[in-house]
Amino acid sequence: MADLHIVILAAGKGRRMHSRRPKVLHRIGGRTLIEHVLHRARSLAATSLTVVVGHLAEQVEAALAAETDLRIVRQVEQLGTAHALLQTEPLLRAASGTLLLLSGDVPLLRSATLERLLETHRGSGAAATVLTAMADRPYGYGRILRSEGRLARIVEERDASPAERAVKEINAGVYTFEIEPLFPSLKKIAAGNAQREYYLTDLVSVYRRRHLAVETEVLGGTTEIRGINSRTELAEVAALVRQGKNEELMGAGVTIVDPVTTYIDEDVTVGMDTVIHPGVILEGRTAIGAACEIHAGVRIVDSTVGDRVVVNNYCVITGSTIAAGARVGPFAHLRPESEVGEEARVGNFVELKKTVLGAGSKANHLTYLGDAVIGRDVNIGAGTITCNYDGERKHQTIIEDGVFIGSDTQLVAPVRIGKDAYVAAGSSITEDVPPGALGIARGRQVNKDGWAEQRRKR
Ligand code: UD1
Ligand code: CA
Repeated sequence: MADLHIVILAAGKGRRMHSRRPKVLHRIGGRTLIEHVLHRARSLAATSLTVVVGHLAEQVEAALAAETDLRIVRQVEQLGTAHALLQTEPLLRAASGTLLLLSGDVPLLRSATLERLLETHRGSGAAATVLTAMADRPYGYGRILRSEGRLARIVEERDASPAERAVKEINAGVYTFEIEPLFPSLKKIAAGNAQREYYLTDLVSVYRRRHLAVETEVLGGTTEIRGINSRTELAEVAALVRQGKNEELMGAGVTIVDPVTTYIDEDVTVGMDTVIHPGVILEGRTAIGAACEIHAGVRIVDSTVGDRVVVNNYCVITGSTIAAGARVGPFAHLRPESEVGEEARVGNFVELKKTVLGAGSKANHLTYLGDAVIGRDVNIGAGTITCNYDGERKHQTIIEDGVFIGSDTQLVAPVRIGKDAYVAAGSSITEDVPPGALGIARGRQVNKDGWAEQRRKR
């Protein structure tokens, strides 16, 4: 089969977003728009992949720095979509085969649609094929004007007459081109339109004049070709993506009590028979096991949760791991690099940071554990605090297996509590406690008999 070269346009100013962030770096379902498009592009096994950047190019290039399979071309001045594509000429002039042009702001296209577009294109032998769709509300898109059924011209919303605006067939902004006649023809496009830009859509007229065949591939609906030009469209398309993700998970055996208020990013996985309650947000590279219960108002980011875990209401969990059968919350905060062991318990108003809580251990109430390594079957009493910061540096607290920490204890790090030791309630522990010992560090109680009576007489 002939070579396939994919070009993604991502240089535009995205004015309608009103943002200091490049449009293609806005996110939907946890992925940037450009990541969505790259994802689709990669499913096609192309010979080359090129992204055209321009407006706020440094930011886009930085975001793409880790992607080694693509080439980046700069469009220094953003003079329109035709001009953007022309910037790839030095790279692709000598190439043969087909060029597939994608838009960095059209994130939902399905691979199957792109494959069909390519098939139509190759089957017809046309010089170009335009992906179009029938839209109930064509507002904002270029309109497809046909004469005798064949594509005659594409007119942009701004340049269209009222009659042309009434046309329901729209340009998806996705095309295939035979490379050979493409670049010479692009140079024939003028900027005589409302925006004074070089419109790629004008290539249709150029091709007609040169008697080069242009075909169309028509989609029945507009969902997958929706472009993101404004914050409103960003929100609308994000809602569609979210709905799709929820449906995919429910189809695989996850209970989502209220899909409308459940926000799950594209890359999240959830196991069978897990129940997700309303208002849950699962972000980034989060993996949730099977038969878990994630209660209302929980937010989990970039974390791994084992099977049969219960996360009670209103927990925030970031960059952490929770092993099978553990229970967390309500109102717990797991900050990055925390690990909750199997069957362990983290209760209400407990914060963990860079802390390992061993299997079967419990920290049930009002506690801060930071930079701590805690063994198995440890009981952390209510109100325990690791004093891990001396104002300059962080220090570690080590609590070995089977330890009992009494309530309202401060552990001034660095400090180690030996295996099976006890710490008395209300202690400020500044020195290590040996294995099996009782550490007490608090003022001794004095009872003054009859004191109250005497006071009353005074
Ligand atoms: C474009 C099409 C329109 C189509 C719509 C589909 C043109 C003239 N119009 O309109 O017919 O219905 O897409 O979504 O092509 N870009 C550059 N450099 C530039 C200008 C734009 O790289 O100088 C990039 C943008 O970053 C974007 C894409 O090209 O990814 C489309 O540009 P945009 O300005 O969003 O075009 P639309 O007005 O949506
Ligand atoms: Ca657009």
